[in-house]
Amino acid sequence: MLQLPQKFFGIIYDLASVSSMHAIAAAREEAKQKYHNFDIIKLRLYCSEQAHSSIEKGAITLGLPLSSVVKIKTDEQFRMIPSELNNAIREDIEKELQPFCVVATVGTTSTTSIDPVDEIVKVSKQYNLWLHVDAAHAGSAAIVPEVRQILSGVEDADSLVVNPHKWLFVPIDLSVLFTSKPEVIKKAFSIVPEYLKTDEEEKVINYMDYGIQLGRRFRSLKLWFVFRYFGVEGLQNIIREHLRIGELFADFIDRNPNFERLAPTPLSTICFRALPNKKMSENQLNEFNKRLMDEINNSGKLLLSHTKLNDKFTIRLTISGIRTEEKHILQAWELIKEKFNMLIQN
Ligand SMILES: Cc1ncc(COP(=O)(O)O)c(C=O)c1O
Repeated sequence: MLQLPQKFFGIIYDLASVSSMHAIAAAREEAKQKYHNFDIIKLRLYCSEQAHSSIEKGAITLGLPLSSVVKIKTDEQFRMIPSELNNAIREDIEKELQPFCVVATVGTTSTTSIDPVDEIVKVSKQYNLWLHVDAAHAGSAAIVPEVRQILSGVEDADSLVVNPHKWLFVPIDLSVLFTSKPEVIKKAFSIVPEYLKTDEEEKVINYMDYGIQLGRRFRSLKLWFVFRYFGVEGLQNIIREHLRIGELFADFIDRNPNFERLAPTPLSTICFRALPNKKMSENQLNEFNKRLMDEINNSGKLLLSHTKLNDKFTIRLTISGIRTEEKHILQAWELIKEKFNMLIQN
């Protein structure tokens, strides 16, 4: 469904945080071969300043210091800048640090910005680094043929995480890690004591060899049910509709002078804020928008989340629920305007 090359091996874990942690462990395993003076304190992992906190958590879980995660600047559309990545790696090599992993994000948490994986692949290859792609939320949208280009370049990545529990309507938890180098994950994790030896071990894939878990839940069953019930086309149509009504909402924001969009909308997450009065300072605007979001959420009718972009309190409307339709987006917009009007009158 994602049009990945056959060389990719897939394994289901619970969460993207855990999938990424395993990818970082594999990258660390490769680095042990690469650096004869391998030193965990000197390892460096590169991701954008918009990458999810699970990347830092993965690194610290594996015993790397937090300072091993280098945040690369993003452009005005919140995408990693490949030349900045190149510079950071080069400078670290000059300082005799040990670059070992790059994490690109396809669909960042705050804005769903899409790092240029094609170009990041080139930089990663130039320095022989493991490239992991975090497409936890947005990866599912790539099942829609006209959206597949968001994963362009991923064929040459070493690993990729996609969470069907986010935008493929599977109840939490179900995260898939794809990798073209399963043997490296196996090398990092395979320990087979006598009581786990079987006659079949040469003939079958034993998932205990590919991670920290021994026992496993039958998570694939719920994914299979979703595939069977909706069919591939059914799933594509739901995501397509989310993208369409996302554009509709972005358009409402753009056409209303009391609101502004704070990031591009490549998928169905719309980042915006209200602009009640041109004389308000940035601090006052931040406070106003926080109050607006709280009023809306306290209504119990709509749940908005938030982030900060360029120090601006940013409200986020994300469309990814299986039952979200155009009528809900129209209702959401009416509610947002109603609460806005209520606040400016007080
Ligand atoms: C881009 C991205 N990566 C990783 C995660 C973490 O996902 P999980 O809750 O499955 O660990 C999120 C969650 O919001 C995300 O948006």
